[in-house]
Amino acid sequence: MKDLQDLLAEGPVGRNVLVRADLNVPLDGEQITDAGRIEATVPTLTALIEANARVIVLAHLGRPKGEPDPKYSLAPVADKLGELLGRDVALATDLVGDSAKDEVASMSDSDVVLLENVRFDPRETSKDESERATLAQDLVDLVGEDAAYVSDGFGVVHRAQTSVYDIAKRLPAYAGGLVEAEVTVLRRLTENPERPYVVVLGGSKVSDKLAVIESLLPKVDRLLVGGGMCFTFLAAQGHSVGTSLLEQDQIDTCKQLLADNGDKLVLPVDVVCAAEFKAESPASVHAADQIPADLMGLDIGPESVKQFAAALDGAKTVFWNGPMGVFEMAPFAEGTRGVAEAIAAGDAFSVVGGGDSAAAVRQLGVGEDRFSHISTGGGASLEFLEGKQLPGIAVLEEQG
Ligand code: 3PG
Repeated sequence: MKDLQDLLAEGPVGRNVLVRADLNVPLDGEQITDAGRIEATVPTLTALIEANARVIVLAHLGRPKGEPDPKYSLAPVADKLGELLGRDVALATDLVGDSAKDEVASMSDSDVVLLENVRFDPRETSKDESERATLAQDLVDLVGEDAAYVSDGFGVVHRAQTSVYDIAKRLPAYAGGLVEAEVTVLRRLTENPERPYVVVLGGSKVSDKLAVIESLLPKVDRLLVGGGMCFTFLAAQGHSVGTSLLEQDQIDTCKQLLADNGDKLVLPVDVVCAAEFKAESPASVHAADQIPADLMGLDIGPESVKQFAAALDGAKTVFWNGPMGVFEMAPFAEGTRGVAEAIAAGDAFSVVGGGDSAAAVRQLGVGEDRFSHISTGGGASLEFLEGKQLPGIAVLEEQG
């Protein structure tokens, strides 16, 4: 796999370099609430700017429905990127249309242009390879046959989409610094992790995480489950979970997982509940097997934090994905904070994976430098740990 150093060694002065970045940041209106992914992109872009390349950035925001939608415009991202790079970042108002063509044509060396949300074009995410190919060709026409492509959006390398996969077959392709760094760290988790190896999983849906739970259980020493998905496990243990999030159709699978791996799976023993999904809804703590019928669990409770901290104690490798509760609302943030603190306090090689858990670390002020690595990839890091082939990495490897 060729990397950024190879491209820099070629001396890309004046060359168009198309960079796929993952700038999919959480927004509150037009306000970016966590700029972690934009910050993580800066080193690769800076290296290219300093090498006097002409940098054209491709990115998505959210999941628009294949057509322009102002709600998902990259405009706030262009501003933030400009601020972090200390230079103007021009935003083309389309992807491969007149605005993009004008912006690219008027670039000077070291300029940066951000193209508008790549998912405004339905071909980006099309399942039909020939449709994706036409967009890839439009992008090649935009940047020129002699351009280079840098894959730096680790958070999207699990997607077989035009800007991640198809384009890499049409231009000389290089792994960006972020993609390389992420892959190096995650390999440390998949190839002989130092033991004990403890994984903490949260987030709302069991169905999203079943594959990773099944593939990790044989490899880990303990797997701690919090977040919305713990309620399906609690229901599988025969407990009633009130009005908590519950995936009925996953209960049998959870029962089987508990039967086969009861010694490794750790579930919360208490839960912070409220009547409504609102910060103002009065919160109360209940044992995990006594959740009142009219309340929903919105965080793991204080005894669970102690129990999880004990399970993390002495770990040599830790991977954490997914918040323990609705950390965006202060009354339901303590479980996530407690687990983050417990991981940070240990001396394990610790990796935080996922947009939400990474955002939680920053938002709750736990201190990013207290973890060995904070991944920019949620789904991507989980699929990597599952051992799946990631299209965006495979295509770079194929290119040699
Ligand atoms: C993410 O948020 O995990 C990445 O940006 C990928 O987004 P997607 O799940 O919408 O493909």
